[in-house]
Amino acid sequence: MHNIIFDRSTFYSMHFELSEEQLMIRQAARDFAQTELKPGVIARDEHQKFPVEQVKKMGELGFLGMMVSPRYGGSGMDAVSYVLVMEELSKVDASASVVVSVNNSLVCFGLEKYGTEAQKEKYLIPLAKGEKIGAFCLSEPEAGSDATSQKTTAIDMGDHYLLNGTKNWITNGGTASTYLVIAQTDAAKKHHGINALIVEKGMGGFTIGPKENKLGIRGSDTHSLMFADVKVPKENRIGEDGFGFKFAMQTLEGGRIGISAQALGIASGAYELALQYSKERKAFGKTISDLQSIQFKLADMATEIEAARLLCLKAAWLKDHGLPYGQASSMAKLYASDVAMKTTIEAVQIHGGYGFVKEYHVERLMRDAKITQIYEGTSEIQKIVISREVLK
Ligand code: CAA
Repeated sequence: MHNIIFDRSTFYSMHFELSEEQLMIRQAARDFAQTELKPGVIARDEHQKFPVEQVKKMGELGFLGMMVSPRYGGSGMDAVSYVLVMEELSKVDASASVVVSVNNSLVCFGLEKYGTEAQKEKYLIPLAKGEKIGAFCLSEPEAGSDATSQKTTAIDMGDHYLLNGTKNWITNGGTASTYLVIAQTDAAKKHHGINALIVEKGMGGFTIGPKENKLGIRGSDTHSLMFADVKVPKENRIGEDGFGFKFAMQTLEGGRIGISAQALGIASGAYELALQYSKERKAFGKTISDLQSIQFKLADMATEIEAARLLCLKAAWLKDHGLPYGQASSMAKLYASDVAMKTTIEAVQIHGGYGFVKEYHVERLMRDAKITQIYEGTSEIQKIVISREVLK
């Protein structure tokens, strides 16, 4: 199938077929999710257990450095493949897939694009190989959506920065070894005085707060981080002095592709379970899939999931073609996260009482869906990004 899409004043030609390689990687992720993630996913959620073994295996499969060049230990795949993998993993275990998303989009991407050769050798290679895990540290107690108001400071001391402050809700906060920390160096310069620093676990003065007890993605590892006079060598700054805020914004553009695919996966996972259940469950002398009230729900779910998938893939495709993708990734995240929330609620409804108990998986997917409307920019932030573009 060949289709032409209209985007502002430019026409792009877009093929909808997946390549052999993309189909293979999707199948590998699907198999992995069923055989490695599904067993134990309910217990990991209940006991807030990080999927240590599963993350190690995902590293071995190359899922943690998917888009990084093989030169730096990555798999050298495209962003479309990344979306396919994220959808398959998230259908089953969003706590595991968020590790993939953060490591790929928020940590490896920025290091590869803006890091020095020395930074890539030291930090990117083990991250891309999945030997180490990374975290992206932007949010603060008083700077979540308002990301320019960083209170964490990185004072220039000549050969190093002195880092002080607190970061909140950091995914992989406890399990990571490498942290990209956004901090204010020169408050007078506002966002032009912000830097991105590579901080290692174990640096003096760096402590990790207790694990957050969350509504969803309970297997993922979310912590506050505290920095008290942490000495970060100058060579650990990413990019020029003052590049930190733009670094964070550009990183998040790609991160939103990952989270939109996560939301897509949560939605399609819940839909597949509801579809299957509707064909098995009998009521009023027939399967509930024979009831029009259920058929209409399934039709809405299938249509909205397909629309979300197209938005995710379009954002990924734009990135793969070196075209601007910030607006597209925000659109994908805005829409897919709403679809995840709506679809999972409907999936619980279709399951009736069974949907309310853990064994049927859909209640977990419903709880997991909520975070996709919040992290890497709330839905309101996505609307700011999109409306600024359309009003340009
Ligand atoms: N790329 C490059 N530069 C960008 C940019 C982008 N996408 N977006 C903004 N900028 C630049 C602007 O050009 C501007 O620079 P100049 O002054 O040199 O022109 C500068 O950044 C400031 O931009 P704005 O004036 O637009 O800034 P703003 O204060 O109005 O904020 C915002 C913009 C979109 C609201 C931004 O603050 C934002 O995205 N906030 C949400 C942050 C977020 O997503 N947090 C989630 C935390 S991360 C997370 O969840 C990780 C996890 O663990 C899963």
